[in-house]
Amino acid sequence: MRVAVIGAGVIGLSTALCIYDRHHLSGQPLEIEVYADRFTPHTTSDGAVGLWQPYLYDKGNTQETLWNKETFDYMLEHMNSPEARDMGLFLLSGYNLFTQPVPDPSWKDIALGFRNLTQKELEQFPGYSYGWFNTAPMLEGRIYLPWLTDRLKLRGVKFFHRKINSFQELMDEGLDVIINCTGVRAGKLQPDPELCPGRGQIIKVHAPWVKHFIITHDIEAGIYKTPYIIPGSQLVTLGGIFQLGNWSEENSSRDHHQIWQGCCQLLPSIQKAKIVDEWSGLRPARSAIRLEREVIRHGPLQAEVIHNYGHAGFGITIHWGCAMEAAKLFGRILEDRKLVKPPRSNL
Ligand code: FAD
Ligand code: BEZ
Repeated sequence: MRVAVIGAGVIGLSTALCIYDRHHLSGQPLEIEVYADRFTPHTTSDGAVGLWQPYLYDKGNTQETLWNKETFDYMLEHMNSPEARDMGLFLLSGYNLFTQPVPDPSWKDIALGFRNLTQKELEQFPGYSYGWFNTAPMLEGRIYLPWLTDRLKLRGVKFFHRKINSFQELMDEGLDVIINCTGVRAGKLQPDPELCPGRGQIIKVHAPWVKHFIITHDIEAGIYKTPYIIPGSQLVTLGGIFQLGNWSEENSSRDHHQIWQGCCQLLPSIQKAKIVDEWSGLRPARSAIRLEREVIRHGPLQAEVIHNYGHAGFGITIHWGCAMEAAKLFGRILEDRKLVKPPRSNL
C-alpha cells in the first residue's frame, strides 16, 4: 500500500512516524512518502516557541483535551532519557498572568504543579492581579523536526520536495491513502471556510538571566496583543501577536514595536537584551482540529484521505495525540479493505 503524507511540519512528520510504527507489521507492505514544499527549518513548526500549553484555545473541547494530555504524557516519558536533548525536550516552569480572576484551564490537572499565584508572586508583575504557576515540557521544533526526520529516514520513508496542487494529482500517481497535514494552507487543496491564519510574530533575544516563562492574557476587541516571554534552550522568545485573517509572513515594524514595548514593560531587564532574530508565522486557526477520514473520487479512481490540520497555536502541544488518532483511522482503512483482522475489541 502506498501512503502519501502531505506536509512536513510537526503534524505531518509525527503522523507519518506513528502510522509506520503502528502498522508496518500488519502484514501489508507499507510505503510511506512525505511530500512538502517546505521542510525543516522553514515550516511554521520550526518557528513555534515549543511550550506545551493550549495557548488561546482552551474551548473545553474534551477530545482535544485528551489529545493534549496524551502528548504531555509522551513528552514526559521521554523527559528523563538521553534522547530528550536530541529531541529538543526539557521542562520549564512559569507564570500565566491575568488582570482579573478567571476559571481554571482544562489542562489544570495535566500540567505539573498547577497552582494559583500568591500575592507576593503577583507583586513582581504590576498591573496583574491574578495568575497561575505550573511546569510543562518545551519541545523545540527546530530540534524536534530533524529528530523526527531522521527516525523516518531510518524506517525507509521517502521525502519529496514538491508542491501538491490537488489530491487527484497523487491519485493519478497511484497513491492509495493520502494524509493531509498541510496546516494553514489546507484550504488550497479543499475549500475550508473554517480555516484561517492566526498570524504571529516573535523576536528572539539573548537574555540568559530569564529562567521562567511569563505569558499574559487580556483580549481586546478580538485582537490579541498580550506579551509573552519564554526562555528556550539558547535564546528567549518575545511574542504575543495573534492576528486572525492576516496572511503576511513578513515581519512588521509596528508589531516589532508592540512586542518590544509590551515585553520591556512586563520585565524591564529585557531592555538590556540583545536582539538576535525575528520571525513571523501563520497558526492554522480553526474552531476545532479537523481529524477525520474522507473518501475522494476522481473518475474511476478512489482514495482515502485522512485530514489532520487546524492545530492553531497548540500544534506542538497536541501533535502526538493527533498522530495516534490518525494512525487509528489508518488502521480502520486497513480493516475496511480486509487487509488486516480487526482487534478483538471491535468484533
Ligand atoms: P506547518 O508546520 O505549517 O507544516 C505544514 C506543512 O505542509 C509544510 O511542510 C508545508 O510545506 C506543507 N504544505 C502545505 N500545503 C502544501 C502543498 N499544497 N503541497 C506541499 N506541501 C504543502 N504551538 C505550540 O504547541 N506551542 C508553542 O509554543 C507554539 N508557539 C507558536 C508561536 C508562534 C509565533 C506561532 C506562529 C505558532 C506557534 N505554535 C505553537 C503553533 C504551531 O506552530 C502550529 O500549530 C504548528 O506548527 C502546526 O503544524 P503543522 O504541521 O500543521 O503546520
Ligand atoms: C503562540 O502560539 O504564540 C504560543 C503557543 C503556545 C505557547 C506560547 C506561545
